[in-house]
Amino acid sequence: MKIRYKRIRGTYDILPEEIFLYKLIENTAEEIFKKYQYKELRIPTFETADLFIHTTGETTDIVQKEMYVFEDKKGRKLALRPEGTPGIVRAYLENQLYLKYPVSKFCYFGQMFRYERPQEGRYREFFQIGAEYFGNAHPVADAEVIFILKEILNSVGLKNIIINLNSLGCTNCRPRYRHALVEFLAAFKQDLCEDCNIRIEKNPLRVLDCKIDRTKLTKFNVPTIDKFLCAECLNHFTQLKVLLKNANINYNFDPLLVRGLDYYTRTVFEISLPKSDVIVAGGRYDNLIAQLSNGARNVPAVGFAIGTDRVVEGIQQTIDYRYKTLDSKHLTEDILPVFVAVQPIDEAIQEAFKLVMKLNSEKRKNIVATGPYPDRSLKSQMRLANSINSKYVIIIGENELKNNYCILRNMTEKSQQEIKLSEVIEKLTE
Ligand code: HAM
Repeated sequence: MKIRYKRIRGTYDILPEEIFLYKLIENTAEEIFKKYQYKELRIPTFETADLFIHTTGETTDIVQKEMYVFEDKKGRKLALRPEGTPGIVRAYLENQLYLKYPVSKFCYFGQMFRYERPQEGRYREFFQIGAEYFGNAHPVADAEVIFILKEILNSVGLKNIIINLNSLGCTNCRPRYRHALVEFLAAFKQDLCEDCNIRIEKNPLRVLDCKIDRTKLTKFNVPTIDKFLCAECLNHFTQLKVLLKNANINYNFDPLLVRGLDYYTRTVFEISLPKSDVIVAGGRYDNLIAQLSNGARNVPAVGFAIGTDRVVEGIQQTIDYRYKTLDSKHLTEDILPVFVAVQPIDEAIQEAFKLVMKLNSEKRKNIVATGPYPDRSLKSQMRLANSINSKYVIIIGENELKNNYCILRNMTEKSQQEIKLSEVIEKLTE
């Protein structure tokens, strides 16, 4: 049959036999986001093109080669969103969401658009599930988003994920690395591809990400950023690695991982399956909110985006999904909000992080645990706990921790007791 119209190259129809997998992933993510109090935002699919040029980055492939840019009838330069993060930051600032949500965690589900060469797992219109966590500079926030990702992917049946992790440093230490890298690459110019020769001038770190030149560079012993991190960035990265290890999250340290977007600082990560392209990517971007608010709000941030289509393909390839019943917990409105506060001592932070993850994995009662916020004073943490109507606050302090105790405060009755750390979950689920 000769039909008159066909879909545009790089787009596809999701048919009924596939839609349930999209729903499964989205519903599973939604449940886990609820637990960790990520509030959903729906933002426009098109914005002013400048937003992406100034955030995703003028020299990135996404902006230079892949963005769908068009003029509207009034001659304004607009773009279909190639990713969600810039729009979420814009919405956060424009709607002053920081006033309403002292715990500023947001999630989003929707289409993104990139003019890429279509192939399996690479489309011109595709779906992402994203999360952005604002206002916590401590690596517990980075560890939390990675933990959540593991929960989502494991819950939809993907158990064999590979997490690659790196730190890109900050505005203090990255320029030193950039300088050393440019010097090094200058000697190998003739061995690198045409694109990389341009990248050396404009965005040299992206050379490390080049599919053509990456293996060559490893052979040449290219300098890596880990040797250039300043003390603060190194400490941040070391703490993150300890947090992940304690939460039983396996990762590979990949010093050549740079990511294709400009806003990242410190942590970056990508997740893939044994035989797949990257299914999830994210990282920290501590300067973006300040940049978009002209310095008015200096809020650190970390987040990720799941490539929903790639996860669907991963499920289809790795398990016989038609015969497996995939477990997806159901949340009721009947929740028990718990806040974990902490004194800023490494050991206490480690315990607090573990406890939040354990509480949120607890199936007997619908506990929703928040925290820790180690960069805030105990008083400010208590204020935050109060403002989000926590029913209980667990305080992990130096003295109590010596004997493996914590303080359990009932916020309704305004009473508190010392209790063994190992018994706190029992107590809350009584
Ligand atoms: P990204 O690495 O550009 O990061 O995209 C995230 C994920 O979206 C990729 O890992 C991939 O699974 C999926 N994806 C990207 N392009 C395509 C495509 N053409 N077809 C199908 N799937 C694709 C971001 O978008 C950042 N906003 C992530 C982030 C959030 N960082 C911090 N917060």
